[in-house]
Amino acid sequence: MTTNETSPNGTLTQESSPTDAAPVVELRNTGKSYGNVRALHGVDLTVRSGQVTCVLGDNGAGKSTLIKIISGLHQHTEGEVLVDGNPVHFGTPREALDAGIATVYQDLATVPLMPVWRNFFLGSEMTKGPWPVRRLDIEKMKQTADAELRNMGIVLDDLDQPIGTLSGGQRQSVAIARAVYFGARVLILDEPTAALGVKQSGVVLKYIAAARDKGLGVIFITHNPHHAYMVGDHFSVLRLGTMELSAARSEVTLEELTNHMAGGAELAALKHELAQVRGVDVEKLPEAEDLKTTVATPSKGTTE
Ligand SMILES: Nc1ncnc2c1ncn2[C@@H]1O[C@H](COP(=O)(O)OP(=O)(O)OP(=O)(O)O)[C@@H](O)[C@H]1O
Ligand SMILES: [Mg+2]
Repeated sequence: MTTNETSPNGTLTQESSPTDAAPVVELRNTGKSYGNVRALHGVDLTVRSGQVTCVLGDNGAGKSTLIKIISGLHQHTEGEVLVDGNPVHFGTPREALDAGIATVYQDLATVPLMPVWRNFFLGSEMTKGPWPVRRLDIEKMKQTADAELRNMGIVLDDLDQPIGTLSGGQRQSVAIARAVYFGARVLILDEPTAALGVKQSGVVLKYIAAARDKGLGVIFITHNPHHAYMVGDHFSVLRLGTMELSAARSEVTLEELTNHMAGGAELAALKHELAQVRGVDVEKLPEAEDLKTTVATPSKGTTE
């Protein structure tokens, strides 16, 4: 890592980014159709070790389709997907995982009543003793989970507590630590802050930065430009299945990113529509131009 110190403008980004490193995952002119529905078209995306690539976009923009292709859930129907420079067509999520691509879905696939350590090892339990008396190595799993969580800076009082009792942010953090422990090189996070408040979102952003500092390439899907700008090295905005913006951090400001997400023209149209609804004084709504120059404070995560 270079540095993970909070910079004067309050972000968790690195001082310098190794942009010359070879991409771990690369999409070239990639697309996906579901029957007649063209969900994604002509998308280029590059994921490098030690960098956070943010994918932003409104509902239905194609974000989930994009990550489903990279994580092996769906196959692309156009263009190429390359891992370490080699074209791939993952048939199953297992194949993507074997290539080091781990995905943390928003619903997290945890077992709420099982202890934290048990969830940490779910599906990859440690065992001891020879067959047929092979049994779970509970002590070792607890110790390892504890050490790995601490290693990421996550301190939980009791790893025996059911994972369902943790906050949403803590559960996301455990999932990130788990992916790091099991050797992921690329970590995909699908809207990890969507259902979280400001403080909890901050916790998750911190561990996204920690995963990046451990050398993982992170793909961070979000609706929230403020969250993206806190940790992102590169920003890709999807609109109606195509890449509307693809820019390195040095090429785009938070204001520009916010405006891309809000869609200046769409805001004007919305204002016009609101004018026809009684009780809304459109004259008091800000102009699109004003929105461009407003430095908004981090907002609460959106809920879907
Ligand atoms: N399995 C599917 N079959 C048919 N159409 C689909 C399927 N999955 C997604 N789509 C369509 O593809 C488009 C992109 O959907 P996608 O779920 O990728 O968007 P998204 O950016 O993740 O949206 P959201 O923010 O709501 O999660 C949408 O028009 C959607 O209806
Ligand atoms: Mg989605």
